[in-house]
Amino acid sequence: MAEASVFSGNLVVIGFGSIARATLALLLQQRTVLLRNITVIAPELDKPQWFNKHGIVFIEASLDEDNHEALLDRYVDPGDFLLNLSVDVSSLALITYAARTGALYLDTCIEPWAGGYTDQSLSAAQRTNYAFRQQMLELRKRLGKGPTAVVAHGANPGLISHLLKAALMRLAGELKHPVPMTDGQVHWARLATDMQIKVIHIAEHDTQRSRLPKKTGEFVNTWSVDGFISEGGQCAELALGTHERQRPRGAHAHRLGTKNALYLDRSSATLPVKTWTPVAGSCLGLMITHHETSSLADLLTLRKHGAVMYRPTLYYAYRCCDDALLSINEWLGNNGAAPRSKRVMGDDVISGGVDALGILLVGHQHNAYWFGSMLSVDQARALLPFNTATSLQVAAGVFAGMAWAVRHPDRGIVEAEDMDFTSVLEDALPYLGDMVAQQTDWRPTGPSGTHDDLEQPWQFAHFTLE
Ligand SMILES: NC(=O)c1ccc[n+]([C@@H]2O[C@H](COP(=O)([O-])OP(=O)(O)OC[C@H]3O[C@@H](n4cnc5c(N)ncnc54)[C@H](O)[C@@H]3O)[C@@H](O)[C@H]2O)c1
Repeated sequence: MAEASVFSGNLVVIGFGSIARATLALLLQQRTVLLRNITVIAPELDKPQWFNKHGIVFIEASLDEDNHEALLDRYVDPGDFLLNLSVDVSSLALITYAARTGALYLDTCIEPWAGGYTDQSLSAAQRTNYAFRQQMLELRKRLGKGPTAVVAHGANPGLISHLLKAALMRLAGELKHPVPMTDGQVHWARLATDMQIKVIHIAEHDTQRSRLPKKTGEFVNTWSVDGFISEGGQCAELALGTHERQRPRGAHAHRLGTKNALYLDRSSATLPVKTWTPVAGSCLGLMITHHETSSLADLLTLRKHGAVMYRPTLYYAYRCCDDALLSINEWLGNNGAAPRSKRVMGDDVISGGVDALGILLVGHQHNAYWFGSMLSVDQARALLPFNTATSLQVAAGVFAGMAWAVRHPDRGIVEAEDMDFTSVLEDALPYLGDMVAQQTDWRPTGPSGTHDDLEQPWQFAHFTLE
């Protein structure tokens, strides 16, 4: 574990859902980031007794566009840490607030104010994660250097970008491939192109189950139901590799920024994609839109005189837990109407389930290679209370990101790709269960069962059902 980071401020946490509980349980039991007082602000505070024992101050309040500055002024001082683990609270507003106040900041995705995912006065393109990230990059330019604000740093987005770098290094070792360096830093895009990687999946398979059967009309998930519904309703997004012969149907380019990712004119919950993880081999996930699709595309695009020479196809292929898949199915069948009730699985998860979250590197000399965290719910519970496999992977990312911010307190806005992956992984590893690296000969077959075209291998269409 990295050495203790000296931090003498208070911690102010926004939100008290599955990730805040999991993270607080972790923060209260580690010795790397030393915290003083902890204040939690959320509209509903159904808090287990365990948290009261730790002297946390709970404030029942809801942040919005009009009240957030006055509310935060009461609790956040210069040198404090503002941790945004809520839904419906604008990341950009809180980053701006933290910069002005002189507080460190971290969130786990770029969240808009309530209604921002579905605001019909905005185009679908303006509601993509690519567009949210562009707004963040513009804010970064405006704010410049200042207190560190780590954006989108949970498990994915977050740790997954560090796992990608680690996976590339491991594969380079196995293929005995030299690692290209520029100015003392690994040139990640060159390394990926040199190893002929065509496709990269953030490949996740969650096999956790609840002892409580899902009721009709109930949306069940292993993390935020609101968060999953928001992502599921946003347009599907992917980075399209330079090896692809055609664009996916309904794909559009953006007008602003590096234009490294495309968005499709269908919601991300409606696009099944085949992927592979060690937990059960091949599976059918959903191409859920995420921040890291465009941040990793920026890291891995190789340009010469402005022209794109190389980029892998890259997207998140998420085989959520069975009950969440049923819930998504029901939600789509109901034209996206709000579910009758919502449940984030916690104590009800039965023994044996695993969350396998990793990077699948595809198309190189060894065919395909997965590297990531295989954490069972039993391992998670043995480590910390209030955790499932999913929440602990996220909490590990939050904690490791906070520790990095405390060690580098004046970097302004940073994404995972800007950070040193070895030290972040070192802090997170004790909470990630088994780190598994596995080669596989798996290849997806095309829509009508046809095998991949050896002349033009690893085309996007082969991973879909269309
Ligand atoms: N990067 C990752 O790996 C990752 C993984 C899981 C979740 N997340 C994100 O983390 C965030 C929290 O997830 P979760 O599972 O804990 O969600 P959750 O739905 O369980 O909890 C959300 C919390 O936000 C609070 N909240 C809602 N409106 C608020 C407001 N106006 N002001 C203050 N608090 C408000 C709710 O009361 C609740 O306590 C979500 O944005 C989710 O998308 C990221």
